[in-house]
Amino acid sequence: MSNIHRHDVLIIGSGAAGLSLALRLGTGIRIAVIAKRELSEGNTLYAQGGISAVLDAGDSIESHVQDTLSAGAGLCDADMVRLVVERGPRNIAWLKQEGVKFTLDASASRSNGYHLTREGGHTHRRVVHAADATGRAVEDTLEGRVRASPHIELFEHHTAIDLIDAGRFGGGDNRCIGAYILDAASGEVATFLARFVVLATGGANKVYLYTSNPDVATGDGIAMAWRAGCRVANMEFIQFHPTCLYHPKAKSFLVTEALRGEGARLLLPNGDRFMPRFDRRAELAPRDIVARAIDHEMKRVGSKYVLLDISHRPAEQIRSHFPTVHARCLELGMDITREPIPVVPAAHYTCGGVLTDTNARADIPGLYVIGEAAYTGLHGANRMASNSLLECLVFGELAAHDIAARLEAWPMPATVAPWDASRVTEPDEEVVISHNWEELRRFMWDYVGIVRTNKRLQRAKRRIDLLRQEIIENYSNFRVENDLLELRNLVEVADLIVQSAQRRRESRGLHYTLDFPQQDPSQLAPTILIPDRYRPRPSNWIR
Ligand code: FAD
Ligand code: SIN
Repeated sequence: MSNIHRHDVLIIGSGAAGLSLALRLGTGIRIAVIAKRELSEGNTLYAQGGISAVLDAGDSIESHVQDTLSAGAGLCDADMVRLVVERGPRNIAWLKQEGVKFTLDASASRSNGYHLTREGGHTHRRVVHAADATGRAVEDTLEGRVRASPHIELFEHHTAIDLIDAGRFGGGDNRCIGAYILDAASGEVATFLARFVVLATGGANKVYLYTSNPDVATGDGIAMAWRAGCRVANMEFIQFHPTCLYHPKAKSFLVTEALRGEGARLLLPNGDRFMPRFDRRAELAPRDIVARAIDHEMKRVGSKYVLLDISHRPAEQIRSHFPTVHARCLELGMDITREPIPVVPAAHYTCGGVLTDTNARADIPGLYVIGEAAYTGLHGANRMASNSLLECLVFGELAAHDIAARLEAWPMPATVAPWDASRVTEPDEEVVISHNWEELRRFMWDYVGIVRTNKRLQRAKRRIDLLRQEIIENYSNFRVENDLLELRNLVEVADLIVQSAQRRRESRGLHYTLDFPQQDPSQLAPTILIPDRYRPRPSNWIR
């Protein structure tokens, strides 16, 4: 097989963002979709609660906008919020048309027949869902559709290493024309060239020891775009989901917030309810508030977990709305219809990412970024529950329109220098890589977690600088393989998180520091980091 591939559009990532974009581009466009593991593996597959959209006659766009702005603690881009929220209903209709089977409620004539649930921060029922496995319903459906599309070529078990910038690798303008991609089966690095490149690589929460995310969430797209010269924004805002199951055999299992939407209460190990002491919305306060309250109470009473209790609700309702959570807990010997379960916060969502505009264009011409890897301005300092899948779909749609409109006039790249593997040897220090992985994830959890301080951030920064040195050495000496590539990206992303956290000298939304415990009204702007290679575009490129 030739080691050079050419397509019109190269999409790196196969979650809700990447697959919805692929399906929305016309059938006359030749598309490659790249996935690090199987096509389905990624955060999308594990999404439980649902997708927010205004579908109830008593709800309104204005209310969804206001709730999102309020959760975002003053840092959302209001125009972007409106743009996304307004496109919610038609994106749900699109998913339904593609074949996603949402949970219906025959008695709910006001909501087009959908059963709508509630989650933190929402003042209305507006979360459409497929029981408690919404992500699986979306991913399976979209996967079936792309597999049946002959114009979409799928490359599973392929890892993107770095973007190809024509100015750097092949002469010509500063423009993204493809990526170098490692094929896990052959161990070879291929050159993928395309008119347009889209990063849909998801979040970076594997940078923390405890996370709800699967292994692929290593921030590769954010790191690749940063190295290529794109700005990133708001990386200090890492969302910790309040309720992951606390059990040695279920480290990353999420217990959906929709349980609290349907009445579940948070309790101390002695049975006392504590959330009303922290916020008038109690268990349905936005996630930053609930996660911080849990962290505070765990430390105060010296417990390793708190309890989540929905057993007062009818057993049949619990079983039908939450079959995934019910079954997983039963496997572990706990019955949520009868007893509370132990939960802890864990890193869940990357609110920041690669800075993009209303068409999902990033700083480098030819490059788009969509989904969790992007920073669009929608989430501000804290993402409201179920707004993420919505963002994936909306920017999949917007990018598809923009790409289709520009495709014809955009030249197919000429050739570039192939990947240079001549200098490398077999890795003989794999133990160093796994040790560094563990070290990084542990100190990020300890020093850059739910509660931060200047000193902890400084400690983390010193360790990151040392690790980065070792990794650069490994990277330039050894044959590239997945763990090394992921570690290289995780260190890059950890650095971006710490640098951003150090710049924000206040507490706002998901960033809480004991050194500046209050909000500072003069810091009402996103934290934008500018890479050395950044070259400002003419004003018509980005907003
Ligand atoms: P992902 O779905 O994470 O897909 C990333 C893709 O990129 C994968 O295909 C991966 O293989 C690929 N990739 C990554 N790096 C590379 C590389 N170097 N080379 C090649 N491929 C690469 N949000 C909601 O709105 N509602 C919910 O109910 C909800 N529940 C959630 C529950 C859990 C447990 C989790 C973890 C998240 C949840 N979220 C929810 C968040 C939401 O699921 C994600 O933000 C969203 O699915 C991200 O989609 P994505 O397409 O951007 O990325
Ligand atoms: C959940 O179901 O609690 C996750 C929802 C989200 O992250 O949006």
